[in-house]
Amino acid sequence: MLGEFLALQSVRAIISPVKIGVLGATGPAGRGLAARLSDVGFDVLAGSRDVSKAEAVVAELSDMWGDRVSRVKPADNRGACAADVVVLAVQADAALTTSRQLSEELAGKIVVSMANNLVRSGTEFNAVLPPHGSIAKEMQAQLWRSKVVTSFHLVPAAEFVNLDEKMESDVVACGDDEGARITLMEIIRAIPDLRAFDGGSLENAVGMETFAAVMLTVNIRHKVRAGLRFSGI
Ligand SMILES: NC(=O)c1ccc[n+]([C@@H]2O[C@H](COP(=O)([O-])OP(=O)(O)OC[C@H]3O[C@@H](n4cnc5c(N)ncnc54)[C@H](OP(=O)(O)O)[C@@H]3O)[C@@H](O)[C@H]2O)c1
Repeated sequence: MLGEFLALQSVRAIISPVKIGVLGATGPAGRGLAARLSDVGFDVLAGSRDVSKAEAVVAELSDMWGDRVSRVKPADNRGACAADVVVLAVQADAALTTSRQLSEELAGKIVVSMANNLVRSGTEFNAVLPPHGSIAKEMQAQLWRSKVVTSFHLVPAAEFVNLDEKMESDVVACGDDEGARITLMEIIRAIPDLRAFDGGSLENAVGMETFAAVMLTVNIRHKVRAGLRFSGI
């Protein structure tokens, strides 16, 4: 208990100067996450393959939210890898290609995968998993000098950008490196109303990636927009 407390304190001590890069910050998930993170005090590099698209998104966010997003700066994806923690918010089926292309820049960084690579068949979604069993494990195999963690799979990401709306979601973080996992959970907890939970090693990432398919299927078939909330906690 004391050990966990001390670990969290030391992470809190390093969290304030943490800069976060978001690759693919022109999509709904990336732009919203960038805005939320700025709103709670993180410096954010909003990346795109094309820096002019990132500049346009940062200008749009600034028109919407003014000073609340003043910590978001545009970059190309390579430039956004200069951050300490880099979130891959690119289109799911481009996550592994993007991480492979930027493996040098991502060396030594905490890399956050949020990719749900899903195919739709009628009213059902299914996860498409690579040879290592999950996108996150595949990414860790590619990025052997990085600390890959995985999260945000079940968050209705388009809601991130509505800074005045509560997110009210439980968010599970998985990763093989404990320090990286704790850092990610602290970042998640910095966003009001999100609760962060430790989901263990990257072995369990497959559970989150496939459960995203189940949750979307439930949402379609029951015509709802359900998210994840653990009971009893
Ligand atoms: N949307 C959600 O509710 C939600 C929830 C949980 C998790 N996720 C995950 O979050 C990630 C982003 O979701 P999203 O809906 O924002 O994605 P998206 O709109 O499909 O794509 C995001 C960005 O990815 C970049 N991109 C597109 N094709 C690419 C390619 N071939 N190579 C490299 N970059 C490419 C584009 O940015 P540029 O053109 O500017 O480079 C695009 O704006 C996905 O992995 C998704 O599974 C989404």
